[in-house]
Parts: sequence; C-alpha cells; structure tokens
Amino acid sequence: MKNYDSIQHVRGESQFIDDLIVPEGLLYISVFYSPSAHGKIKSLDISEALSVEGVKAIFTSKDIPGENQIGGIIQDEELLAAEIVKFIGEPIAIVVAVNARTARKARNKITVEIESLPVITDPREALKKGELILPPRIFSCGDLDNAWTQCDVIVEGKTESGGQEHLYLETQGAIALPLEGGGIKVYSSTQGPTAVQRTISRVTGLPMNKVEVDVLRLGGGFGGKEDQANAWAAMAAVSALILKKPVKLILPRQEDMRMTGKRHPYSSDFKLGLTKDGKILAYEVIFYQNAGAAADLSPAILDRTLFHTTNSYYIPNVKATGLCCRTNLPPNTAFRGFGGPQAMFVIESAIYKAAEQLGVDAYEIQRKNLLNDGDQFPYGQKAINSHAKVCWDELDKKYDIGKEKKKIEDYNLKNKVSKKGLALMPVCFGISFTNTFMNQASALVHIYSDSSVGISTAAVEMGQGVNAKIRQVASEIFSISIDKVKIETSNTTRVANSSPTAASSAADLNGKATEIACKNLVERLKNVAAEILNVQDHDKISLKDETIFYKEIKTQIDWKDLITNAFLKRTNLSAQAQYATPGIFFDKEKLKGKAFSYFSYGTGLVEVTLDCLLGKYEINYVKIMHDFGKSFNPIIDKGQAEGAIVQGIGWMTIEEVIYNSEGKLLTDALSTYKVPDINFAPKEIEVNFLENSFNPMGIFNSKAIGEPPLMYGIGAFFALMNAMKAFRPVKGYKFSAPLTPEKILLSLYSNIKEPATSPT
Ligand code: MTE
Ligand code: MOS
Repeated sequence: MKNYDSIQHVRGESQFIDDLIVPEGLLYISVFYSPSAHGKIKSLDISEALSVEGVKAIFTSKDIPGENQIGGIIQDEELLAAEIVKFIGEPIAIVVAVNARTARKARNKITVEIESLPVITDPREALKKGELILPPRIFSCGDLDNAWTQCDVIVEGKTESGGQEHLYLETQGAIALPLEGGGIKVYSSTQGPTAVQRTISRVTGLPMNKVEVDVLRLGGGFGGKEDQANAWAAMAAVSALILKKPVKLILPRQEDMRMTGKRHPYSSDFKLGLTKDGKILAYEVIFYQNAGAAADLSPAILDRTLFHTTNSYYIPNVKATGLCCRTNLPPNTAFRGFGGPQAMFVIESAIYKAAEQLGVDAYEIQRKNLLNDGDQFPYGQKAINSHAKVCWDELDKKYDIGKEKKKIEDYNLKNKVSKKGLALMPVCFGISFTNTFMNQASALVHIYSDSSVGISTAAVEMGQGVNAKIRQVASEIFSISIDKVKIETSNTTRVANSSPTAASSAADLNGKATEIACKNLVERLKNVAAEILNVQDHDKISLKDETIFYKEIKTQIDWKDLITNAFLKRTNLSAQAQYATPGIFFDKEKLKGKAFSYFSYGTGLVEVTLDCLLGKYEINYVKIMHDFGKSFNPIIDKGQAEGAIVQGIGWMTIEEVIYNSEGKLLTDALSTYKVPDINFAPKEIEVNFLENSFNPMGIFNSKAIGEPPLMYGIGAFFALMNAMKAFRPVKGYKFSAPLTPEKILLSLYSNIKEPATSPT
C-alpha cells in the first residue's frame, strides 16, 4: 500500500498551514528579531513601525499575558527577549498587520540598540568560560585504567561534525483563532500538538482545556518541529487573544533558516585501545555538544549521544562524557537521529584511525567487534537478538565486499586523478524515547453508524507514512477495506497528553494504541454477532473481509449489517485505548537500565568516486542490509530508508552550516546552503530487508524505521577518506565533517603532518 497522501501531494491538493481556508479578518505576523548574538537591549523603537498603515499592534515581552518562558526541559528560553539577547534571530517583537507584506514592511522599521556582550560560538570555549547547561554526564562501564594496560595499540584524536538545516519544505507556521469564552484554537505545523498546547497555556495563562491544537499534516519536520514549532504558535495565540482576531504566522524561508536551531554540531576527543589483532578493549570519549543559546532538547539529545557511544560494537571498558555547552547560536534541536549519529561518527573515526595504525582495513576491526547476542552496552542493557553480525554477513554474502574492494583497487591503479573509495557502516539504534515516561500513546476509534471508521491518535503525518500504517492497523483488525478507514487530524481535544511524533516510535506507539482500541471494539461486535446468530460461543465468531464467520463458516451478516445492528442495540461504537511500552526503565542516578524497547540493526556499503583535481565527488552506490523486523508496509519503509540515507550523506558531505565569529549565519539561503538533489543523490540505492526477523515489541512485528538508516550516510565520509588516501596515502586527514569538495581539495594539497600516536 502506497502512502495515500502521495496522490494528493503530486496534484497539489494536500493542505498545509498556508493552504487552509482562512476566516474573515485574518491578521498576519512578522517577527522582529535580534541582529546581535549577545547583548543588553538598551532601547527598542517601534514608533515608526506602528505608524505604518495597516499595522494593528506590536507586542513585546511586556505584553505577554502569562509567563514569558518557553523552555521545555530547562526554563531558560524567553518567547520574546526582555533584556538580554542571546543569539541572532532571537525574537524581540511581534508585528501584527492586515497582510504579511505590511507586517514585514513595518517590522523592518523597528530599531533596537544593543550593548554588546562577548559572543561564544565554539563549545570548547563555552566550557572554558563555564557555560555548561548541565553538569557533565558520564556513562561508564568496566575498568578503564586497567584496560589501557592490556592494549597493544592506543590511538587518540579529535573529531568535528557539523550542524544540519532541517529544510522541511513547509516552513514553521501557525494560525490562531480566538474562541468564545476566552479560549483559543490553533492550527500548527508541529510534531508535538501537546507541546504546543502546553507552551500556549503557559504564555497565555489559560488552562490547557482552553487551548485546542490541531495538526493535519506537516510538509516535513525531521525533528525541527518537535520543540521549535512552539514559539510561532504561541506568538499567533497571544496576538489572537489580545486582538480577538484570527492571526497567522508563516516564517519566510530565510527567516526560518536564521531563527531556528539545527542539528547539534559536536566536537569530540577520543581515545581507543585495541589488541594487536583488532579487538577493542577500551574507549574514552568526550562529547562537546554545541547546544546554542538555550537548552531546548539538548539534554535529551546528549543522552541519546551517550547511549550510542559504542554504535554496533561491544566494548567492555568505556567512559563517555557529555558536555552540554551553551553558545550564542540559535538553540540547536532535534534532528533525525537525535544525537545518535554524532556519537557514531566519533567511534567510526576512532576505528578508522586504529586501522591506519594497525595497517588493516577499518572493516576488519568493525566486523571483529560487532555485538553478539547478550553483549552489554555501557549503560547495562543487553543486546538481545542482536542482528549486527547477521546484517553484516548477509550484506557481504550478497555483494562480496572482498570483490568490491578488489575492483576498486584495480580502478585506482588504472586511474591517476580519479579515485574510488569504499566503506562499511554498521548501525545499531535504540528504539524508545530515552525519557521513559514519554513512551505512551493513545487512540480514539469511532465506528460510525454507516460502518465507516475514523481514527484519532497523536501521531503526526509528516511524510513518513504513519497515517497509512495506522490505517492498515485498523483495516487489519476489523478486516475491512482500507477505504473505510479515515485518519483524523491530531487534535488535543481528542487525544490528550501526547508525546511528540519523534524517536521513530510514532507507528509503534500509536499503532499499538489503535490496535488495542480496535480489538476492544471487535470484542463488543462479536457479542452483537452472537446475539444476532443466536449462539453462545462468541469466541467462535470472527471477522474476515467485511463478513462475519461463525466456526470458520461464512454467515449472511456482513460488516455493515453488524454495525447497523450494533448501533440499534445501543452498543458503544467508540473506543479509547492507551499503550505504554512495557519493560523499559532507566535509573537516572546510576545511569543504568533497559532504556530501549529494542534495537534496529543494519549494515551499509558505500562507494564513491573522487575527482582529485577538483575535489568533486559522486556517491556511486549505497547498499544496505537492514533489519526492518517484519515490515508490514515495505514501500513506505523502503522510502524512509532511501530518504534517510540521502539526508545522512548530505550531513556528512555537502551540507555545511557556517556561522561567523559574531554568531551570524552565513548559509541562510539555498544559494549558500547546499542540500543533496537528484543529481547528488547516490546513483544507486539498494535496500535489502533482512529476512526472518520478527519484532513482537513493534507494531505487527515490524521495527521502527524513521531515523536508523540516516546513519548509513556516515559511510560516505569514510569512503571519501579512502578515496583521498588512494590518491595521497598519508595519515592524519582530519575527521572533520562535512567533507565538502572544498575541504577535500585543501587537504589533498596541504601540508599534513602525521600526528604522533602512542603505541604501548
Ligand atoms: N520522513 C519524512 N518524509 N519527513 C519527516 O519529517 N521525520 C523523521 C522520520 N522520517 C521525517 C521522516 C524523523 S526525525 C522521525 S523521528 C520519524 O520520521 C518520526 O516518525 P515515525 O515515528 O512515524 O517514524
Ligand atoms: Mo525525530 S529527530 O525524533 O523528530
């Protein structure tokens, strides 16, 4: 089954916030934001802006009826800066006018005087100045001191991985409508309807029951609307409440790029110790997370980094330190992988360096250290049903890595300036929110008297196909045609207290809640059928293809008759159910526990061709063997894998977020920020489904798929390093991502000193 949105999408019929039919008298917002990355607001002059014809109001922090605070995990972020600005793009004032153009024109007439304070953009500098958002977090296991003495080889190094712009096609936006009795209804492009509701409740002072948030779908989120949709919805809500008019806010692309946070850049130090035959014994790592000016989701993201310190490998002695560093950049936020990819890049770099030192291919070390069944992660959970090695070996069986390598060697011998490189990338990604309480969801299912079905959950459709999957769940449990099932908008009045659609868990959590609700309804319907058939043993009744069966024999009653009867017999045709992932826990003091419901595994093989005169390159292919569990929608799952792979490659290669030392974003348009397009995407992507995998913890035995394949993209970085080495075989190329053509060219022709490593 295809993602049924596709047909509407290609016809341009799908609605996004900016397509909604708007009410009479709608007003528009333009946001005035800080031009300075750190400073004291000395004065703000809105007088000229106010006199622009068509301007209805200008609001600043003083006008906020409730709390001027939108920080989720830590209360350190104002909706509108009151006295101090902490990053360029931080909202200071809201201009409301009769149309968007007027609002923007007036906004441009506002002036602000800011007394500069020191600007920090680098996380290591933030640490030096004591700018930590949290105390350091340390995950450890084994006996590191002793382990170093057992190692034959120890390598040390530093890595950098860059930010990443979400570039959802639909920019941030919301529409707020004042309701009678002082309430508010908000249409928001958010992954977290409840997060928006909670934020609005806080800044308006209204109780949550007076704030209704509705989400139809998003034109992409990728994590960027998990927390950062809140502010815009809150601005629209505050304005609508005060002015008693409907208000719309849509960020223009460039303002979205400037004002919102991105994937966290990380700087890291590593030290890896191995035996001479490549067995990893010890690993020490420090992650400097560039959090930006406020906590946002950074603490949770840092946790996921720590959880993924060792990727798919078993390492008995580990110490991983996470530092959440405050800088004067827009608060960085969730991005597909949620800190996991950043950790994996470091361990892969460390292995690469160790391979250089040992004079072997990195993949020999990778393969040797993959998780076995029952191996423990540094935080104490065991890898049960580890598919790390199976995926690797199946991939090898299918594509013969040795042969591919030989082909590349031949090519590289014959070609002087064009070089190919190959790399393998294993992935092990934990599925569950690391904050245990968030692993819950609920569903509300109505069967209407004409026998059609409507389902509400908090799952937000953002292109990943969660609605199609939930529709399948209902159609399967009721055994009715998919056309009879409609997925309703995600609305806080129908589904309350929800977790955001994130952590790749939306289909699992909301699908399971839907499954339970539908099964409850089936039980009631079987009782009705037993009554109609005048039989006692209602467990002998089943529903198949919209027909009622008794003792496996088809009866005269179909689905429609059954529902009509049930309705006339005054049966409750609505069900609500909650699902909470069983068996997970995490001790936040000891930093140990079973944090994840299960793990997603796989291995990717990436080949690139590098033009060593120009620094330009092509990604020839990405071939993966991935554990999807038992996929119940292979088309959607394959699409998720392909999209994630390209996004991961983009992060590692050409997508470069650049801020200058004053904290100004230089890459704030698509002319300066390059994302993969159809020409840059790998010439071939082959997605293979690992056979015979069943996952009872996932919906219909499947495994979550939204984020894990992104990390195959890391393979592109090391494939490029290998191509560089084929051209100029020196050690010491920097582990600095993204590896842009520019960086490659400079390192191919620059003076590289081989840094000393410390064999013991
Ligand atoms: N796919 C599309 N097309 N658009 C998106 O915004 N977001 C990704 C992933 N796939 C995204 C996407 C992210 S960051 C997550 S966490 C998951 O989808 C969330 O959806 P799921 O839980 O249903 O997998
Ligand atoms: Mo995804 S980064 O968990 O929204």
